[in-house]
Amino acid sequence: MAKIAVFISGSGTNMAAILYASRLADAQFEIALVASNMADASGLELARLEGIETFVHSHKGHSRAEHDAAMEAAAMEAGAEYLVLAGYMRILSDEFVARWEGRILNIHPSLLPKYKGLDTFARAIEAGDSHAGASVHVVTPELDAGEVLAQARVAIAPGDTPESLGARVKLAEHQLYPRAVADYVSRGSDPDFLFAKLRDLALALPETHERESHGSPGFRAGSEKSGKYFAYFSDRHHGSDHIAVLVKTSGMDELLNLVEGQPDIYYKPAFYGASGWVGVILNRPDLDWDHISEWLERSWRSVAPARLTKLIDAADMF
Ligand code: GAR
Repeated sequence: MAKIAVFISGSGTNMAAILYASRLADAQFEIALVASNMADASGLELARLEGIETFVHSHKGHSRAEHDAAMEAAAMEAGAEYLVLAGYMRILSDEFVARWEGRILNIHPSLLPKYKGLDTFARAIEAGDSHAGASVHVVTPELDAGEVLAQARVAIAPGDTPESLGARVKLAEHQLYPRAVADYVSRGSDPDFLFAKLRDLALALPETHERESHGSPGFRAGSEKSGKYFAYFSDRHHGSDHIAVLVKTSGMDELLNLVEGQPDIYYKPAFYGASGWVGVILNRPDLDWDHISEWLERSWRSVAPARLTKLIDAADMF
């Protein structure tokens, strides 16, 4: 179960929606902390009532760095793996965002990339848009610009004011945010998500194609006719718990070294292990896709025709 900290500044109705979603039977996350920069944020009371730990640190009289550090320390203390911003009206410092790269989500009341920043409803009405809405996105240093994970569309009525429209967008947000958080925190163990990422990386290497082998997707280097496999995707095959990519090592010595030295990352797959293929586990918390890329390239090199590896070597020299 993923642990999240929710940061609020105001009424906290999105936090409430997330909180009650976390109490349903099939929940994918739990709230470890609700933190706020405003002591009177009414969401704090609800969190306390529901037995959730809260933390308050006013931003007044503190530098951004100091304030961020206090909020971050509280989140870490509570064991949070993700930060979920729900009406948190403070911009986080770039350093903070970098430290939590890919682990901070925000909800923004517009259909991004439209209307970043403030007054989104007034701007949508003014522009004569047919729909407004809300977006859940990954937080990056640039404001409201990270990958959009999910959106809810809300029709704009002829007589809508920013307030009347905003009230309906809130209802939509309460449906959207808990689900988007659940999908996001569980995607590291979602075979479809992991395979899609792996496929992008594998097919980015020169002259590669996808071909199934014994029911598993595989990737080959070289021509359709004479290509050779450099990677297989394995989704809990042959009794293993792992979702993994199988790549070629230099042989049994290296394979056994990896498996014994770093059992959280590597395992010896059934059948393929006998010929020096190692399983690199994808469904683990600290997965580093650069590391997977390096393995794919290395494995690709070991089977790709010389005319292709020469091209890459030449390109690497610049
Ligand atoms: C939400 O509508 C959210 O989209 C917006 O603040 C509201 C918080 O309401 N966020 C932003 O404007 C971020 N720039 P809540 O406190 O009731 O959840």
